[in-house]
This record gives sequence, C-alpha cells and structure tokens, in this order.
Amino acid sequence: MEPRVSLADFLRDRLRLTGTHLGCEHGVCGACTVLLDGEAVRSCLLLAVQAQGHRVQTVEGMARAGRPSRLQAAFEKHRAYQCGFCTPGFLATAEALLADASKHPLTREKLPELLAGNICRCTGYQPIVEAILEVAGPS
Ligand code: FES
Ligand code: FES
Repeated sequence: MEPRVSLADFLRDRLRLTGTHLGCEHGVCGACTVLLDGEAVRSCLLLAVQAQGHRVQTVEGMARAGRPSRLQAAFEKHRAYQCGFCTPGFLATAEALLADASKHPLTREKLPELLAGNICRCTGYQPIVEAILEVAGPS
C-alpha cells in the first residue's frame, strides 16, 4: 500500500466499502466519518497506514445479522435522512457520542453543537437529533 493513501480511499477503492462517503475531502463536512477504536474520525484526513493495528468500523459493520442497529432503526423511524449522503458519517459520529453518553449525557440542547462537524443539506438536523435522543434514552 502506498503510504499516502487516505483511509477513506483505502476503504472505498481497495476494500470496496463505499458506504463511507467523500464530500469535501478536507475535514469539513463529516461525510467520511468512521470509527477508529470507537472514536469518530474523518477518514479523509487519516492515512490508511495510521489505522494499521486499530479497529476500524464503517457503516457496513453496523447492522447485525442483517438487522439494522438501534441507531439505524431510529434514523429510519424519524426519517433522519433524505438523500442519505451524510448518513454514514452521522451514524458514526452518533455511535461515538452514544458510547460516551454515560460520561457526557446527550441532551436536545447539546446535540446540535456535538453534531456540528457533520453537515446535512436535506433534513434540517432535527430528525437526526430526535433519532439519537431516542437511542440515548432519558438523560
Ligand atoms: S470528506 Fe472528510 S470531512 Fe468531508
Ligand atoms: S440526508 Fe442529504 S445531506 Fe443529509
């Protein structure tokens, strides 16, 4: 592997995991967000070699036995996507936030700021917030 291949390109072009989307390719839109050892990272800004030895999870690994994850089901229920371009990135960001929610509880007030690194041009964000709050449960 060439050392300068980004993690996003490696996932999409080499592994054919095209659920990770590329928008801005310079760290602004969040579309390329994946989980690296459980932490949300922008795969357009990381080199694939930097992920060596770490656990990378993309949207393709979120469903279990063909069933959507709780978060994916909540996105469906609340219609938290339209074109879907931003959705894999939002799911990764939200999974990381939910994993951390015991230390940093998620609230309706805080979520817009916590999601500010992911851009959605379709939904107006509110359905995304509702979906995440449903999975987070009462805080
Ligand atoms: S494509 Fe990586 S942040 Fe936009
Ligand atoms: S659903 Fe279209 S950009 Fe978010």
